[in-house]
Amino acid sequence: MISSRIIGTGSYAPKKVLTNHDLEKMIETSDDWITERTGIKERRIAAEGETTSDMAAKAAKKALEMAGIEPNDIDTIIVATVTPDMDFPSTACFVQNKLKAHKAASFDIAAACSGFIYALSVADSLIKSGHSKYALVIGAEIFSRITDWTDRNTCILFGDGAGAAVLAKTTGKRGILSTHLHSEGSSWKLLCASSHEENAKTFIRMQGNEVFKVAVRALEDVAIEALEHNGLKGDDLDWFIPHQANERIIVATAKRLGVPMDKVYMNLQKYGNTSAASIPLALDEAVRNGKVKDGDLILLDAFGGGFTWASALIRW
Ligand code: UT7
Repeated sequence: MISSRIIGTGSYAPKKVLTNHDLEKMIETSDDWITERTGIKERRIAAEGETTSDMAAKAAKKALEMAGIEPNDIDTIIVATVTPDMDFPSTACFVQNKLKAHKAASFDIAAACSGFIYALSVADSLIKSGHSKYALVIGAEIFSRITDWTDRNTCILFGDGAGAAVLAKTTGKRGILSTHLHSEGSSWKLLCASSHEENAKTFIRMQGNEVFKVAVRALEDVAIEALEHNGLKGDDLDWFIPHQANERIIVATAKRLGVPMDKVYMNLQKYGNTSAASIPLALDEAVRNGKVKDGDLILLDAFGGGFTWASALIRW
């Protein structure tokens, strides 16, 4: 049976670090409050002039290098982002040009923090249906550009970055076992950003505690859906790599799934919430530092604006 397998990962985070102590000088907050409520200690901020596609292309180059393939081998590029370079063309087209991936079809997916798993699912389907052989899936965001730096409810949470994965056609037992995607548009007002309203600046608006409650439930539901679909339990997982929004959300979800914290990969302390980039940033780190090993069972789990939520179960 044809399926898809991740054969390379890469990530990129801008150089500039913004710590909780830096934020103490900008707004009424404290390192203690941010650490206790979110687990975040610092986040990265893109340089002036640096674009989402710049970061995406850098992450992609590292993923291609690990995969051992050339840009010309790639036939599909999907970028998950809600902070694109322009309204159009897609950020994926900018990436295609930067990589000189001349044979690739390119498009973006907008599913906020769930975007990477949505993109992974589409790429997996393209490979399974025979449309694609090598797909490049990227999550990349510049949330610092849509953050209201005077709003302490939101500006402490987000950061910039990119992560990428190369998917290849395989017939072996390793690879993407399943993906599950969901959305519920009626709750859009609880987490959104818009540049389309009159006189609007594109700022994130979020009712944090409402989002928090829904997120934990949805993350649990879609994780269980993935496990049950494959006849597995939380116990069977080697790694749980969730969207990196808030340590308390992650701990609560892991507890409900019966996954011990030493099997949960977390790097939000360094990057904050990077939306669609958070899972591939964490996955790439876990692969490169040798935590993720061949044969490991990995569950990716995300929740974000839309609302959208999604999971992917992978035999590494
Ligand atoms: O990416 C996917 C979607 N996003 C998320 O998953 C985010 C989900 N939500 C959260 O992570 C949390 O709700 C937050 C971290 C945003 C907030 O934590 P909370 O425990 O839900 O706090 P809260 O919003 O209920 O606020 C508690 C208090 C309020 O003061 P009063 O009204 O109790 O006097 C806030 O004004 O904390 C205050 N507060 C702050 N204090 C210091 C809010 N932001 C700050 C701040 N520093 N930065």
